[in-house]
Amino acid sequence: MRIDEVKNVCVVGAGNMGHQIALQCALYGFKTVGTDVIPAVLEKAQQFVDGYLPGRVQKGKLTEEEAKKAKSLISFTGDLQEAVKDADLVIEAVLERVDLKRKVFIDLDKFAPPEAILATNSSYIVSSRIADVTKRPAQVCNLHFFNPALVMKLVEVVQGPHVSDQTAQCMMDFCLKIDKIPILIKKEVDGFVLNRIFAAISKEAQWMLEMGVASIEDIDKACVYGAGHPMGPFRLMDLTGIDLAYDIGMSHFYESGDRADLPTPSVVRKVTEGKFGQKTGEGWYSYKK
Ligand SMILES: NC(=O)c1ccc[n+]([C@@H]2O[C@H](COP(=O)([O-])OP(=O)(O)OC[C@H]3O[C@@H](n4cnc5c(N)ncnc54)[C@H](O)[C@@H]3O)[C@@H](O)[C@H]2O)c1
Repeated sequence: MRIDEVKNVCVVGAGNMGHQIALQCALYGFKTVGTDVIPAVLEKAQQFVDGYLPGRVQKGKLTEEEAKKAKSLISFTGDLQEAVKDADLVIEAVLERVDLKRKVFIDLDKFAPPEAILATNSSYIVSSRIADVTKRPAQVCNLHFFNPALVMKLVEVVQGPHVSDQTAQCMMDFCLKIDKIPILIKKEVDGFVLNRIFAAISKEAQWMLEMGVASIEDIDKACVYGAGHPMGPFRLMDLTGIDLAYDIGMSHFYESGDRADLPTPSVVRKVTEGKFGQKTGEGWYSYKK
């Protein structure tokens, strides 16, 4: 697949990341279908689009025509088979669980056109752990957006050993087409470039909290006012989802058997209490107003 052949995009999973990735694609002229297994998620995604576009027009960031065009290009459906049937590019953004992703890719391979590229937005899982369930491993790669996907410019394209040069090039070109800044990662490493750096910071912050070294607020302040980060590691975890931090920690532990990879007790506590961060109204901080 070359970039000039990419017209239709399907985003699988319309949660935190998926609905914004889908809207970014539609804003830059791609016919985009978002899909999810939960009807309420699809409804929320559509509501977000319906609210976001007029808001951008009001702020002078989009013209009426651009908003109208984006709206006409994006749709949501619960029917995966229907959603991917004409896709040139599928971006999977379901939960961070390798078994689930492998299951989803079996269906994507079955229902998407054989020439379509199947990309995963996974934060940590390299695509070679998924590509083998398909008949097109050369067209399966990581395409990693950052949260919030409508705002953050960086996208990591990971070219594992099974990924063809043409697929990697197409994904680099696609990112530029949707106004993102891609970097090409030439070796498969869990977490790719930026999350590896942030994971080290986040883990250290979590253990300092466990040890009672400083409060959540003060550890965040250290990163914001001392290192110039836009937000501290706890505020960032509230944005990305404490449940995601838990899933990543557990999957690292299952792979390594190293207890140091387990999520910290405070993370486990937050997850068992259902306090996942902004999306549930409470995490390390409260968002209930
Ligand atoms: N949250 C972040 O900051 C962030 C950043 C970059 C990448 N990611 C990655 O993006 C992916 C999604 O993360 P998220 O934060 O959007 O999660 P989320 O929980 O907000 O959304 C995941 C969605 O997938 C849906 N889903 C589950 N099984 C499905 C299936 N079989 N078919 C279709 N949809 C299905 C769920 O209903 C849910 O709405 C993960 O792989 C994550 O690692 C997340």
